[in-house]
Amino acid sequence: MMGRQAIAGVALFLAGTAMPIAAQEAGNPDQRAARTLAQMTPEEKIGLLHGPMPSLLPAAKRLAGVPVGAGVITGVPRLGIPNLTETDASLGVSNLNDLRKGDVATAMPSGMAQAASWNSELLRTGGAMIGSEARAKGFNVMLVGGVNLVRDPRAGRNFEYLGEDPLLAGTLVGAQIAGVQSNGIIGTIKHFAINDLETGRNVHSVVMDEAAMRESDLLAFQIGMEKGRPHSVMCAYNRVNGDFACQNPFLLNDVLRRDWRFPGFVMSDWGAVHSSEAILHGLDQQSGEQIDGKPWFSTLMVKAVEEGRIPQKAVDTAALRILRSMFASGIVDRPVTAGAAIDYDAHGLVAQRAAEEGIVLLRNEAGVLPLAATARRIVVIGGHADIGTLSGGGSSQVRPVGGFALEERQVGAGVASFSKRSYGGTAPLAALKAVRPDAQITFVDGRDPAAAADAARAADMAIVFGEKWSTEAADQKDLSLDGNGNALIAAVAKANPKTIVVLETGNPVAMPWQKDVAAIVAAWFPGQRGGEAIARVLTGAVNPSGRLPVTFPASVDQLPNPVLPGGDAAPADAATRATYGLMASAKPFDVHFPEGSDAGYRWFAKRNASPLYAFGYGLSYTSFRYDGLKVTGGQRPTIRFTVTNTGQRAGADVPQVYLTRPGKAKRLVGWSKPMLQPGETRAVSVTVDPRVIADFDVRQQRWIVPSETVAIEVARSATDPVLKGTARLTRTTLKP
Ligand code: BGC
Repeated sequence: MMGRQAIAGVALFLAGTAMPIAAQEAGNPDQRAARTLAQMTPEEKIGLLHGPMPSLLPAAKRLAGVPVGAGVITGVPRLGIPNLTETDASLGVSNLNDLRKGDVATAMPSGMAQAASWNSELLRTGGAMIGSEARAKGFNVMLVGGVNLVRDPRAGRNFEYLGEDPLLAGTLVGAQIAGVQSNGIIGTIKHFAINDLETGRNVHSVVMDEAAMRESDLLAFQIGMEKGRPHSVMCAYNRVNGDFACQNPFLLNDVLRRDWRFPGFVMSDWGAVHSSEAILHGLDQQSGEQIDGKPWFSTLMVKAVEEGRIPQKAVDTAALRILRSMFASGIVDRPVTAGAAIDYDAHGLVAQRAAEEGIVLLRNEAGVLPLAATARRIVVIGGHADIGTLSGGGSSQVRPVGGFALEERQVGAGVASFSKRSYGGTAPLAALKAVRPDAQITFVDGRDPAAAADAARAADMAIVFGEKWSTEAADQKDLSLDGNGNALIAAVAKANPKTIVVLETGNPVAMPWQKDVAAIVAAWFPGQRGGEAIARVLTGAVNPSGRLPVTFPASVDQLPNPVLPGGDAAPADAATRATYGLMASAKPFDVHFPEGSDAGYRWFAKRNASPLYAFGYGLSYTSFRYDGLKVTGGQRPTIRFTVTNTGQRAGADVPQVYLTRPGKAKRLVGWSKPMLQPGETRAVSVTVDPRVIADFDVRQQRWIVPSETVAIEVARSATDPVLKGTARLTRTTLKP
């Protein structure tokens, strides 16, 4: 079902690092973990259940020889059990506090950008690359796998995640995790679950019925876990139906362990533990323990066991699960040591390919793009395009190779370490000059819209950057561009009809100037080699093939929650804890998501609302035709058709298949990403996973697909069907 675009250069480092781990001792991971546990003292067992955030420790108290990352858990050296050395995150090895002086890593484009590729091979390759850097820097746990669904385009962490659809996000995160873990290290999937907003993230309670959860956010996790087999799960900050996610028996014991048979361990998010009893409800490890304020899983756990409030068996079970993952991942047999050489050039190319495939061409009037050779005088405006590209803030932020060119502290963003607006990676201006040496390319910083308009008037063409920064720990007020972005674009567009807008955003944005500009390119936060990726798409060296993994609403009035939940409940900045934006003093509040399981395009379909740009949308420099639809019904319907490149350029397309049951919102059931030469035709086949279209029956605890006739669409986006057919479904019931 997935795209198969060859990615040159990648085999190089895969061959170097992703070797299968040979078991050096007899037995499977379960047996080896049990044998090890039997030899451990009570203190050693407790030792595995908790650990600090090293950056918050005085230097003298940090474990010698252990790299400073997000967390560390002390191992049992006498039994060959290593420390768990943990680093963030999904976009590369982050170094938020800069304690590994000057250390840099390859910065992948944002999760949203990667999701826009709709190419799981790309996510796997990126995962293998960032995991190899984690390993080379001495980390054996990488806190990747962010797959919270986009329910609100103002949510601060959407840029880290993989869009609004459970099948797309789940498939992609599974590939990313598998890539990371191919290095013989532990990956996570996070933040379990329904941690879809940042406002009051550690106090709010999401109120949602089980069916809605199972059919949306939990389905994304389920698919991701099946495909990626992460060795650990990170539970979230928020509450779900009243219980904190890290002590939520429904999420951790019923769903994760009983239904999904997860054999690994659950680690808490940093500061998400609220009791020692959490261990009875499925939590195995307290991470970043200083942030919790209480040593729930160390001294207080010892006390609870002594007092008989927690059975020793619960401690044993948690320790066993952690050990099992250590054996299963390979970190015991092939211990990680810091210092391996990193080929940053090859890795930069991986980041560049990801950025190129994730760029979405949203508008291209009269074929203004790719840039014509006749456009000789080009002015580039704004976005600090002369020094780099924008990245998202928070724990996922990677200090890119070359360092940041600019870090601007944001006033009022709440969390000191997260509130830097940072630019790095390669600069679009230099990259454009490199691919268009024949052109006269100038730069105007865009602070003064009138000056920018003057420069645009004097040029053949204007390329203006629009930005919207996002960060962990804060949601966004609205969908407007930062600063004078909208005014700047409007002024430039008025001065020159050949105005091309390049968006660097973490989220969908509103575009009041949409009809006045010739072209719009969504470049997201494009990472390490964002400059080249943008330049190569603009000039046509790369034919854009990204498709939106998220709906761009026309305005917030179309959203299920026009007013952001909790916006008025958040405390003033002074009351916000300095670390990680945890609002200790905020009053708990409930979050309702009126869309239930119908997040994103499904909500728009149900309400008959026209978005600004639909989920799945994206243009190409060539054109594609779909033909020959053949649908077979039954329990696992199959949809077959062909795609032909009818244009003059080679390019990749993303034909999407949607299924609509009577009275229900449409659902994405599959897609493909064929790369086609002009005139080339490719056959595509999509088989439907019944869970993606089923209702979850809570009483029977079963997925149920009734016998009925459903509509099938082969489409260019969620709102642009091309081929239409029907399928007769056969009743199916499945265990969760
Ligand atoms: C984030 C996690 C991250 C952890 C460790 C938390 O604030 O929610 O995604 O892995 O910190 O840095």
